[in-house]
Amino acid sequence: MPKDKIALLEKVGLFRACSRKELEYIARITDEVRVEAGRVLAAKDQPGHEFFLIVDGSAIVQIDDGIQLGPGDFFGEMALLDGGPRLASVVAETDMTLIVLGHREFASLIGEVPTISRAIMKVLAQRLRDAESGHTH
Ligand code: CMP
Repeated sequence: MPKDKIALLEKVGLFRACSRKELEYIARITDEVRVEAGRVLAAKDQPGHEFFLIVDGSAIVQIDDGIQLGPGDFFGEMALLDGGPRLASVVAETDMTLIVLGHREFASLIGEVPTISRAIMKVLAQRLRDAESGHTH
């Protein structure tokens, strides 16, 4: 397992509580991807096949005035969790480095690593709360 991939994963907040063994597992099932500013990473109303974690750079979720996501944030979980279409478009605001998981790998990750499932559920609850109160971040 390349050491630099593990080092990259350790930078991502979602994986902070993971054991070495879990990190090695995650490194095996994820891809590191670099994209340029302007790339559409998720398209509203389209089916979604990937889950994204931001390592570097920022993206805008195109809801209201736009919700900025940065290093440590993730997106694309909703379409994968319920099989529905993308809730919003997400566009790279800057050049970005991302950790990307396909549908099957995402399902496997949340099945195998309970700390990550809980962290994702916590963020979903916060996003619902923010949407309900009219705040966007
Ligand atoms: P998905 O619907 O798969 O694709 C668009 C993504 O935008 C969605 O998953 C979430 O990850 C993200 N998203 C949707 N609503 C919000 C929000 N209110 N705050 C932050 N991110 C959001």
